[in-house]
Amino acid sequence: MPAIQLGPHLYSVGVLNPSLRVFDIVMDAPYGTSYNAWLVTGEKNVLLETVHADYWEEYRANIESVLPLEKIDYLIMQHNEPDHSGSVARLVEACPNLTVIATAAGKKHLADITNMDLNVRVVKQGDTLDLGEGRVLEFIPAPMLHWADSMFTWCAADKVLFTCDFLGAHFCEPTMLDTNVHYPEVYLGQVKHYFECIFGPFKPYVLAGLDKIADLDPAIVCNCHGPCLTERYEEIKELYRAWSTPVPYERKRAAVLYCSAYGCTTTLAQAAAEALKGEGLEVSLRDVTFTPLAESAALANDADLLMVGSPTINRDAPKAIWDVLCSIDAVNCARKPAAVFGAYGWSGEAPEMLRTRLAMLKYNVPEQAFRVLFTPTEADLEAVKALARETAAKLK
Ligand code: FEO
Repeated sequence: MPAIQLGPHLYSVGVLNPSLRVFDIVMDAPYGTSYNAWLVTGEKNVLLETVHADYWEEYRANIESVLPLEKIDYLIMQHNEPDHSGSVARLVEACPNLTVIATAAGKKHLADITNMDLNVRVVKQGDTLDLGEGRVLEFIPAPMLHWADSMFTWCAADKVLFTCDFLGAHFCEPTMLDTNVHYPEVYLGQVKHYFECIFGPFKPYVLAGLDKIADLDPAIVCNCHGPCLTERYEEIKELYRAWSTPVPYERKRAAVLYCSAYGCTTTLAQAAAEALKGEGLEVSLRDVTFTPLAESAALANDADLLMVGSPTINRDAPKAIWDVLCSIDAVNCARKPAAVFGAYGWSGEAPEMLRTRLAMLKYNVPEQAFRVLFTPTEADLEAVKALARETAAKLK
């Protein structure tokens, strides 16, 4: 993708990666992505973001198609995940007099990522950079969107808002404009998927970030992935607000998720669910072997309380239950009450392995898992009910 002029002083100098299919190891990206970077020209010439290290040469050629590298005065790094900071070291080597601008957290990340002694100006809320001719860039830190170093940058004179990863999408649009997207439904589907994967764990920060830009009236919003927003800016902002606003529930919710080889763990799960209902909770009871993983994961993540049950097979818990515990939103589930139970026949390691996993995720779990040898007795069922009630009591 060549450099594209998007305004009198604004150029896209980023690159497309249409063949990407997995982003950050964990997120599928069926339509590839773009690593967006911006050049703002004037008395001072300013770059915002670099690109993934693999694309340095294309990025460099894009900048040089507009002006020589040595004419760049500043590099603003709004966020330093390596898909954006991967070419910082090469750029600084090519422009040794460049001043880098970042938040305090960003400065630290850059030092650790480049292992270089960079010339960094640290900025905070309300700090500005004078571009000359009455044009000023204002910095708006937006921590945890989605890293601690994240910030927005606003140019009131040009009505351009730079939002870093915020309001983006993994989607290749070669013209870099939302007005030219050919398959809007597909694009909006990727906007939602991107939000869920990247900003889903940080919803309170999303709302705070939206409030920070509420009074701005940008003509164009330059994010770091996918097309710039013009006509879709208000729509996507409102979607972010809707997706981040907590849904009020009348009752606290519990999820009892389990698998069972011969029904013994099922019996324990049913007893636990009955006890939780008795405590006034809204309970979802699922055998994860026969439940789509996305549904089990959503129930686990949305629940105020989680109980997990598993037999032990060949000295481990079955994959179906591990898959659920590998789909936990660790940021938002920390400190929630949880407990683990299971029936076993030989060695019985699974419940304690799962309890350890929940403890590592920072759930509030008992010191030990509850396990039963083969068929639960009446006393065992009363014991798992007591465990459920004790877990529910932690909600009060
Ligand atoms: Fe696109 Fe958080 O990096």
